[in-house]
Amino acid sequence: MAWNLLLPLLLLLLLLLVVPNISGDDNDGEDDPGQQWCVADVQTPDNELESAINWACGQQDVKCSMIQENQPCYQPNTTKDHADFVFNSYFQNHKNKGGNCYFNGAAIITEKDPSHDNCHFEYLPSN
Ligand SMILES: *[C@@H]1O[C@H](CO)[C@@H](O)[C@H](O)[C@H]1NC(C)=O
Repeated sequence: MAWNLLLPLLLLLLLLLVVPNISGDDNDGEDDPGQQWCVADVQTPDNELESAINWACGQQDVKCSMIQENQPCYQPNTTKDHADFVFNSYFQNHKNKGGNCYFNGAAIITEKDPSHDNCHFEYLPSN
């Protein structure tokens, strides 16, 4: 191995050992560093997103009124944006009772809050 590769590798190794301890598993209940939201995968075709939206909107506690015209999450008026909101609403309200962020592969987890403008994507703690 070339010696000029050794130092970067050692630094990388050190980083990998140290970083998990900084970001911390010591959950003191004050904040929740692992917040996750559920959104539509950009690769999912609109017709599949529409079926998933229709299914989710038939489930309890999914706030589909928010994506109706004149409501805070109507704009941007795209299937993808509406699916983002509905998938997350379903996921947050069902994750503690067996629901997940899957939708036949149409959804993915993100750790970046997708809220925008007046459209708030709720996050509920996990049990
Ligand atoms: C919202 O999008 C749908 C589907 O593209 C379209 O038919 C409708 O006219 C749009 N509404 C507004 C207010 O832009």
